[in-house]
Amino acid sequence: MNSATQPRTQWLGRWGFLLAATGSAVGLGNIWKFPYITGEFGGGAFVLVYLACILAVGVPVMMTEIAFGRRGRGSPIDAIRRVVNESGGSSAWSLIGWMAMLCGFLILSFYVVVAGWSFSYLWKMLSGGLSGENVDDMVAVFVANNENPLNLGFWSTLVTLLTMSIVGRGVQEGIEKNVSWMMPGLVVMLLVLIVYGMFSGGFGEAVTFLFSFNAGSLSSEGMLAALGHAFFTLSLASGAILTYGSYLPKKASIARTTLGVAAADTVVALMAGLAIFPVIFANGMDPSQGPGLIFMSLPLAFDAMPLGTLFGILFFAMLSMAALTSSISMVEATVSWLCDNKGLSRRAAAWGTGIVLWLVSTLAMLSFNLGADWTLAGKNVFDWLDYLTARWMMPLGGLGTVVLAGFVLKSDAFREELGLSPLPYTLWLTMVRYVSPLGILVVFTDALGIYSV
Ligand code: PFF
Ligand code: NA
Repeated sequence: MNSATQPRTQWLGRWGFLLAATGSAVGLGNIWKFPYITGEFGGGAFVLVYLACILAVGVPVMMTEIAFGRRGRGSPIDAIRRVVNESGGSSAWSLIGWMAMLCGFLILSFYVVVAGWSFSYLWKMLSGGLSGENVDDMVAVFVANNENPLNLGFWSTLVTLLTMSIVGRGVQEGIEKNVSWMMPGLVVMLLVLIVYGMFSGGFGEAVTFLFSFNAGSLSSEGMLAALGHAFFTLSLASGAILTYGSYLPKKASIARTTLGVAAADTVVALMAGLAIFPVIFANGMDPSQGPGLIFMSLPLAFDAMPLGTLFGILFFAMLSMAALTSSISMVEATVSWLCDNKGLSRRAAAWGTGIVLWLVSTLAMLSFNLGADWTLAGKNVFDWLDYLTARWMMPLGGLGTVVLAGFVLKSDAFREELGLSPLPYTLWLTMVRYVSPLGILVVFTDALGIYSV
């Protein structure tokens, strides 16, 4: 029996897809990346553009990707080809799927390094190695943790192994149960930090920083970063959501699930901002510290608050779990493509992918020590992976997806798949035809410097 006639696996429980997609969306992007890029691009204006991108681009693209996945029942490459062929279009559109698959893989190769930081901080918390009086102490801890490639490599390798062993067994198993207690747990931990922040003396400044939307103008580069982050944080244009959508039962509502996932993701990101920036301002830190921001700041809060060690352990444990439920989704496209097309077992596909991934991720890991000056145009390997995926591949992949759905396909396939009543359907169509592509094009070309004289 070939894969097209075999019924495709589906999520187990009624909430299976919602939990898995939320698990994919909520991750390091919310708690590590959102605060640090918000810090780099100066706060309020960046946050506003990011929120606008979630609504105008993220939500329509997510609905479209889930619809492609469910209609095409396959990895991005296969699903897109099937859906396009169904309305007589060219198979060349499956290039979008290839790019998405590659994008998920490239993201994972630096994501495991950051997840490795989280695991190593969990270990430090458990073993009492994470105390310090001031910011300088915490910066020193972060630097020391990165300096030794064997230490850092141990943690990123561990994350790679964990990811691949879960994926090898099939993402359905375990994920639904884990996400259902971990998400609420993470939210509780963020609440603890927010309440602590309210008494730390930096809260007012943090709120102003995050929400005073006219706090200075935002650079073109910052706008592209906000757009790229909207894709990243919702796991779009990297095969994750589309492939998860291919396991979605016919009766589930795509629109409602999308809104649920996007809302959960946005709430967690904003909560993370409210948890982290008070600590930064109360300790006189510079918000534009870069990728180490949360690792240099949060331990200070845990060090100072009552029951800090316990909260710290819980926080880093849940952050690590959140990272894993995201990392497994990044290779799901590749693994399911290998299974469907190359006749590999899930396990073989996962470990094969894992070996290549480990090699690339090791290069990313070395950016923090031995390879710190292996740079090209001022960016090291880690920076390049982040830059290529978030600023190029995801916006372009998202553009291709909406143009394909909005203009190329006979709209009946999606009308059927989305199952919307006329008004919401027209709204979706307007978004994918005009609002999302124009938004992406304007931000993208603006960042290329086309409008500057
Ligand atoms: N959405 C994840 C996060 O915010 O951490 C990151 C991510 C997961 C990106 C899956 C891409 C992806 F395919
Ligand atoms: Na996210």
